[in-house]
Amino acid sequence: MSPDAVPAKEAIVMVDEHGVIEAFNQAARALLALTGSPLSGLRIVDLLRPAPGQEADMWVRLRDGLPDPGAPAGERRELRLWRANGTSFPARLAIVPVSVAGRSSYTCFIQDLAQARPQEARSFLSQGQLRELAGHIEAAREGERTHIARELHDELGQQLAAIGMDVAWLTRRVQRQEGNAPEVLLRLVAMAQLVDETSAAVRRLATELRPAILDNLGLVEAIRWQIAEFTRRSGVRVKLSAPAEVERVAGVQATALFRILQELLTNVGRHAAATRATVHLRETRSQIVLTVRDNGRGIRDQEAAGLDSFGLVGITERVALLGGRFEISGRPGHGTKATASLPLHRGLP
Ligand SMILES: Nc1ncnc2c1ncn2[C@@H]1O[C@H](COP(=O)(O)OP(=O)(O)OP(=O)(O)O)[C@@H](O)[C@H]1O
Ligand SMILES: [Mg+2]
Repeated sequence: MSPDAVPAKEAIVMVDEHGVIEAFNQAARALLALTGSPLSGLRIVDLLRPAPGQEADMWVRLRDGLPDPGAPAGERRELRLWRANGTSFPARLAIVPVSVAGRSSYTCFIQDLAQARPQEARSFLSQGQLRELAGHIEAAREGERTHIARELHDELGQQLAAIGMDVAWLTRRVQRQEGNAPEVLLRLVAMAQLVDETSAAVRRLATELRPAILDNLGLVEAIRWQIAEFTRRSGVRVKLSAPAEVERVAGVQATALFRILQELLTNVGRHAAATRATVHLRETRSQIVLTVRDNGRGIRDQEAAGLDSFGLVGITERVALLGGRFEISGRPGHGTKATASLPLHRGLP
């Protein structure tokens, strides 16, 4: 997604986890007079002219919403910002964390309060616009995954198939030869096996990146396939219940539910020490609800907060983006129950 996808007059600067500027849109270029100046290592805090040695601390305070500790992420603060050319202006700054491909970065929205008419000064990005922005990022991520999946499948997959055929050809030649060397044959057989295993791994990766099965077979069949894969790898027996009408769920909702299921099952395999699980998908009048239960050790409350990990936070974000809810809780020794509900908007892509 290009940062310009949000209202053009909004100055947007993308920074990395240390606040170093990585990209900016036209409005930011103009507002901050970034034109022509090499950006090498310019940090968002440099625009605030921190005292030497205070930069890192200032970045952490900015990023974490200090000095107003109660301010939620994305809340704007009023500050004086300095342009590269030495002039300054009163500004509002909102910093929104985004995680792209597992890497955290931040999107900074900057508004020039001197320029803004009074009513504009108040109209910073609404929750709706932030959600829309997050939606664009998510769509971009899915697009990227689709691309990588195709490359993996088409490029690597084809090349591996070609190597496999060459190995088979060599094997036949060696077998036919008088006094063939058994150690050469053994090596070739091992190679053929390795090529097979690598092809399977590539196919699996491609499918995990972009479940084409989701497009071809629909949500329920894709879930059935994912469960079978999970059971094969983990040994955990999973019971699926999903009524036929759920089949009609498609588009962003289907992709989200599929990804959520993948993460929840992965967690069952990694953390629960469970022997059984159930996956339940049901539709109410206005929602689709996915429930995953296991009979493992039970997630603890502080783990469910997911502060040091990405999985549950990712699910929460994904669900919030679509206007839904996510809950997870456990009972010690009696397993974990996770429920994701999404509102149904039929007919939307
Ligand atoms: N089904 C479960 N049973 C027991 N504990 C769980 C279960 N699911 C998650 N947890 C606990 O909750 C924590 C947070 O889960 P989360 O998916 O966010 O992180 P993770 O799986 O550790 O790492 P990742 O970021 O790779 O997903 C896990 O580390 C684990 O301790
Ligand atoms: Mg996880």
